[in-house]
Amino acid sequence: MGKIIAIASHKGGVGKTTLCLNLGVSLAQKGNKVLLIDADPQGALTLGSQLRQITSKGLAQLLRGTLYEDDIVKQAGKRSLFIVGNGVETLDDLFFLQEEGDKGNVGPAIKEMSIGFDYILIDTQTGLHPPLFQLMGHVDSVLLPCTCQAGTIQTMPLFLKWMQRVRAAHNNDLQLEGLVLTMVDNHDRCGAEVRAEILKAFPAELFFNTEIPLLPSFAMAALHGVPVALLQNAPGANQAIDALAAELEARQTLARNESL
Ligand SMILES: Nc1ncnc2c1ncn2[C@@H]1O[C@H](COP(=O)(O)OP(=O)(O)OP(=O)(O)O)[C@@H](O)[C@H]1O
Ligand SMILES: [Mg+2]
Repeated sequence: MGKIIAIASHKGGVGKTTLCLNLGVSLAQKGNKVLLIDADPQGALTLGSQLRQITSKGLAQLLRGTLYEDDIVKQAGKRSLFIVGNGVETLDDLFFLQEEGDKGNVGPAIKEMSIGFDYILIDTQTGLHPPLFQLMGHVDSVLLPCTCQAGTIQTMPLFLKWMQRVRAAHNNDLQLEGLVLTMVDNHDRCGAEVRAEILKAFPAELFFNTEIPLLPSFAMAALHGVPVALLQNAPGANQAIDALAAELEARQTLARNESL
């Protein structure tokens, strides 16, 4: 089975959905079979990937038992990239998905769908809440995007303690895949100060070396519901995403070699 990675954060708007989609595309372009899952009732990944044009079905219908995996796992273009939407079509679906998350039913369903994939990236709902606590019981690792803004440094220790709580409760093997600094703006003096503080406050090995710069192409791609890889003239964004994907792959190779 491939690696199941939840992209999560206590703070909102830090780039979880953006990373999930673009990292997934880049990993698929590198030859991996990738599954993206929209576990956020908000459905930003479902919308941002144009999945909605193919289907509005997804996790909610799978959990209700009205559809099977094959009905909801959709291939994105010709790539080895597949996406599962949240399946939220009505307000009832939204409540249902939240309840299923609370009961701990989402993680096992995702795990079953993960067979045959190299990477499974889950876009999660912002915050520290019961569905995330349950979901983390069924994933291999957590990738935490962080922005260089006031408040980030205060929320991170709580997030790391939360992961310890998950380990103690039901997933001893849960790893921190890493912290990724996102929307990094080298022209922003305040941001540069916060960046330096964040890097000082946590051990260097917790961070990915790659930082994702603040670039209009990310927002532009989101506006058009496409990954940055499909935009003309977005070399900076693609370079950063590809570097992050390469780093992630290198970590898996290292981990596999260490376990031999
Ligand atoms: N590197 C970047 N440069 C510029 N804009 C970005 C970048 N990353 C994300 N954005 C934009 O910032 C906004 C928030 O990003 P995104 O939706 O990915 O965050 P999120 O953590 O998933 O948010 P939420 O808490 O709502 O789930 C979006 O409009 C997105 O297009
Ligand atoms: Mg999001």
